[in-house]
Amino acid sequence: MIKPISGFSKLTKKEKIDWLAETYLKDRPEDVAILRQYWNEDSRLQQLHDEFTENTLSNFYLPFGLAPNFLINGDLLAIPMSIEESSVIAAASKAAKFWRTRGGFKAEVIDTKKIGQVHFNFFGNKEKLKQFFQATKPKLLEAVKPITRNMEKRGGGVLDIKLRDKTAEITNYHQLHCEFETKDSMGANFINSCLEKFAEVFENEAQQYEDFSLEERNIEIIMSILSNYVPECLVRAEVSCPVEELNENKDLNAEDFAKKFIQAVNIAEVEPYRAVTHNKGIMNGIDAVVLATGNDFRAVEAGIHAYASRKGKYSSLTHASIENGIFKFWIEIPLALGTVGGLTSLHPLVKLALDILQQPTARELMKVVAVAGLAQNFAAINSLTTTGIQQGHMKMHLMNILNQHKATEAEKKILIQYFTNNTVTHSSAVEELKKLRNS
Ligand code: MEV
Repeated sequence: MIKPISGFSKLTKKEKIDWLAETYLKDRPEDVAILRQYWNEDSRLQQLHDEFTENTLSNFYLPFGLAPNFLINGDLLAIPMSIEESSVIAAASKAAKFWRTRGGFKAEVIDTKKIGQVHFNFFGNKEKLKQFFQATKPKLLEAVKPITRNMEKRGGGVLDIKLRDKTAEITNYHQLHCEFETKDSMGANFINSCLEKFAEVFENEAQQYEDFSLEERNIEIIMSILSNYVPECLVRAEVSCPVEELNENKDLNAEDFAKKFIQAVNIAEVEPYRAVTHNKGIMNGIDAVVLATGNDFRAVEAGIHAYASRKGKYSSLTHASIENGIFKFWIEIPLALGTVGGLTSLHPLVKLALDILQQPTARELMKVVAVAGLAQNFAAINSLTTTGIQQGHMKMHLMNILNQHKATEAEKKILIQYFTNNTVTHSSAVEELKKLRNS
């Protein structure tokens, strides 16, 4: 029977691996060998990666690729993307190429406000709480000066603190709803440090507030934490062109293509089953850039999906229209990103990704990420409403099967040609490879 282990985190990496091998991977030395195979031979680089998180045993590679030819607000950019899924980078590159000759992508940051909240219980007279809050607000702002000084030099800081009565939802529950500008940093540490200070001062000041009764003085802080829902940290990206320029597809005229495309977007606007997959495709592009640039893709995912449901029903993040013969396709998403702090100055590949993007500000990176999402969605809908996505996917699938069976370049060439007119299945690919090898 397997026994629980205590003090696992205190073991050295070798001891952790030995324990794992002994406990869960007995008779599987090849599994343990894989862990070592993925270590970086540069021990300092390996240590850097080990220390990003806890109980590290090895590294988990993701491909790091590049989608070139993105014309964004007149600048030609190559976008680094880190993703394991086939076809995503190819699709982004294809959309970039298509729109480069049709005016490119236009992107703008609408706002950059971030939110954090101190959640607390107050037992007493709400009018007195309001007065206490007004009297204490300057003290809260003063108390965080040591934390905000540097941020203020960069043009950021605390924008406002509001008292919110949430007692209609939970008895006695209130919030300090705080707004922040964090410039080029994602700002999680900054915001959380400010919030914890606000909570401490708020709680202490209440203890001494003369107008409060004994009960009112005992404000109960529940927690202080930033919100990953940032509907006012918003970016918009757009492409547009005369309908007749949407003429790439030989089997469908431009106008029919535009109409079908718009209906596909409309379906995702009204039908949650489709919206989730539609937005998943958008996140293929967004997450890949967010990850490559060392940002927190879980925060981005959570915030974007909440935004997609803001009207009470999960819906599309993109929209499309035809007005006066002009096809327009756009995305609007909340994004809290950083280009300083966090992994951005630590992870060599993240630094490289930011160099490739010409060291963007957080606002510039927001635009790039929104464009990547829009491009991905354009490519997906383009395929879905014309050839279907399986055509492209099966090509990649074929390559994966051939690679699995160690096909040579010459064998690949022959079989790719063969499968342009034959349906790819795993067994047919293996069968054809066998035939070729026996011929
Ligand atoms: C696959 O990863 C993403 C798509 O399903 C997105 C979509 O359906 O729009 C192709």
